[in-house]
Amino acid sequence: MAREFTRVGVVGLGTMGAGIVEVFARNGVDVVAVEISEAALARGRATLTRSTDRAVAKGKLAEDDRDALHSRVDFQVGLDALHAVDLVIEAVPERLDLKRRIFAELDRVCRPDTILATNTSSLSVTDISVATQRPQQVVGLHFFNPAPVMKLVEVVRTVVTAADVVDDVEALCARLGKVDVTIDDRAGFIANALLFGYLNHAVSMFETRYATREDIDVAMKLGGGLPMGPLALLDLIGLDTSYEILNTMYRHGGRDRRHAPTPLIRQMVTAGLLGRKSGRGFYTYEKPGSPKVVPDEQTPAATQPESTGGSAGSELAGPVAVTTVGLVGVGAIATGLVEVFARAGYEVLSVDGDTEPSAGISETVRASLDEGVARGDLSAADRDAALARITWSASLEQLADVDLVVEAVAEELGGKQALFARLDEICKPGVLLATTTSSLPVIEVAMATRRPADVLGLHFPDPTARRPLVEVVRTVHTSAEATATAQAVCAALGRTTVVCGDRAGFVVNALLFPYLNDAVRMLEAGYASVDDIDHAMKLGCGYPVGPFAVLDAVGLDVSLGIQRSLYREQREPGLAPAPLLEHLVTAGHLGRRAGRGFRDHTGR
Ligand SMILES: NC(=O)c1ccc[n+]([C@@H]2O[C@H](COP(=O)([O-])OP(=O)(O)OC[C@H]3O[C@@H](n4cnc5c(N)ncnc54)[C@H](O)[C@@H]3O)[C@@H](O)[C@H]2O)c1
Repeated sequence: MAREFTRVGVVGLGTMGAGIVEVFARNGVDVVAVEISEAALARGRATLTRSTDRAVAKGKLAEDDRDALHSRVDFQVGLDALHAVDLVIEAVPERLDLKRRIFAELDRVCRPDTILATNTSSLSVTDISVATQRPQQVVGLHFFNPAPVMKLVEVVRTVVTAADVVDDVEALCARLGKVDVTIDDRAGFIANALLFGYLNHAVSMFETRYATREDIDVAMKLGGGLPMGPLALLDLIGLDTSYEILNTMYRHGGRDRRHAPTPLIRQMVTAGLLGRKSGRGFYTYEKPGSPKVVPDEQTPAATQPESTGGSAGSELAGPVAVTTVGLVGVGAIATGLVEVFARAGYEVLSVDGDTEPSAGISETVRASLDEGVARGDLSAADRDAALARITWSASLEQLADVDLVVEAVAEELGGKQALFARLDEICKPGVLLATTTSSLPVIEVAMATRRPADVLGLHFPDPTARRPLVEVVRTVHTSAEATATAQAVCAALGRTTVVCGDRAGFVVNALLFPYLNDAVRMLEAGYASVDDIDHAMKLGCGYPVGPFAVLDAVGLDVSLGIQRSLYREQREPGLAPAPLLEHLVTAGHLGRRAGRGFRDHTGR
């Protein structure tokens, strides 16, 4: 029989503590909610009230239930109020000395059988536990932000945590409607160990002005399919908490430079820009604690480049008008793009190369359009009109009259350079020449022509047909006109654009793939299983799919290629491809396409 927890204590009612109080009280557990001062207590109470009022307003909580929830919470100043609780969850700032002091005090105040839990994100639960005389009754209970919403709890056991204590808190998580993963005591556990390198990298992209805050966030939402952008997420977590987490992970997680906090984070903390809780972080909020972003001096003017061709067909001074598009290649990206451009109203010339007519690709595009009709995405008439706009050709020479060429041939530099040299011979002057490469330097391709100012990257993150984002990659040569034309064309495709420089992985892959590679390393180290890691990222961070599902879908060979290019360019040891990824590729376990990757897909 699992132990019954009827009364619990929560210490610290900040971003996390107030949410944890809500989780317990909502599930019928009495809570003693403790703060350091009357003022902090009032703030904690206000946070709880705001959150439950929001739930009532959204129809997610009845008014009676809200009142019952509040009646279960006893707000107190000082730890002495915790003398009669069954379990304490500590959620004070992420500092080891503070947490150790509080645990020593809790050990003195609480009943001998009380379980003591820390909500630390990165500190060693073992180090905290040995500040007490009862380390066997100390666990990590790592809730995610916002605690009432996120389903995951990481249960962290140390080498001395008693097995029945782990069983009891696992049963408690189930009672709270949470899903737990139980893991050993390692800096960052599962989710933060995979999340914070990514968040820190996003800050350094912003700090070095590689892309704007809006572009970084929109890239990861639309191009990476994530629920929030990294900078908005850091504001939600709190810059002070994030700084401490990164610092601990750097010092105790192997001194990986990717975890050394980007200097900007420290500066923002010093300046009191802590994120949502202080009303300003990377973004500015309506007031402290508010989720509502308000415009500030960094907010871009709300103008989108207009279409220069396709169905919209307007004319603008900056961008060059585009009505006909040549697409070179027969792979998945080319196939997807032929359809995307034709559906948007462009005349499309689909070119295989100089050898075979594009028989395979025309069948695939036709089948995909038929599926669109069956799904109700487009009418039969629209399908027929789109097909009528496509010309299937075997010859590159026919690209002589198009306004834009989009290259989507195999990801191999020599092949792309040879193709661009040919395009330079064939295409009329002023045509925009775009490569869809996801990992090669665009400038290498551009320099194969005598018109590098007209060459840029158009990166459509995978899966091409569904992601509403295009990264417009400018080289040191790319002209402003070419960039404007590319943005206008993408707008006509209904896609949001992010403009970035010519660095390996651009924005999306540079931020996404190291995280995927880190997940492989974690698996390789035997810390957690494929399912637990995928679960943790889905339920703890709200990702639509976990890292191994992404790797299997993208293809392990493709992923390895991208990771190699990131490593080659940055020479950062932490970016070296995980040996397990290399081995699986060697073994032919390439993911869904091969029937097997991290998971077996043969029976699905
Ligand atoms: N912010 C997140 O997204 C997040 C997510 C998961 C876990 N965590 C972890 O939760 C813990 C709390 O982080 P947070 O972001 O909620 O911090 P926070 O700064 O928002 O809140 C900390 C609260 O602790 C209170 N406090 C400080 N000293 C105290 C004391 N001696 N006694 C009682 N209360 C005291 C403060 O007044 C403050 O209200 C940290 O260990 C953090 O790593 C944070």
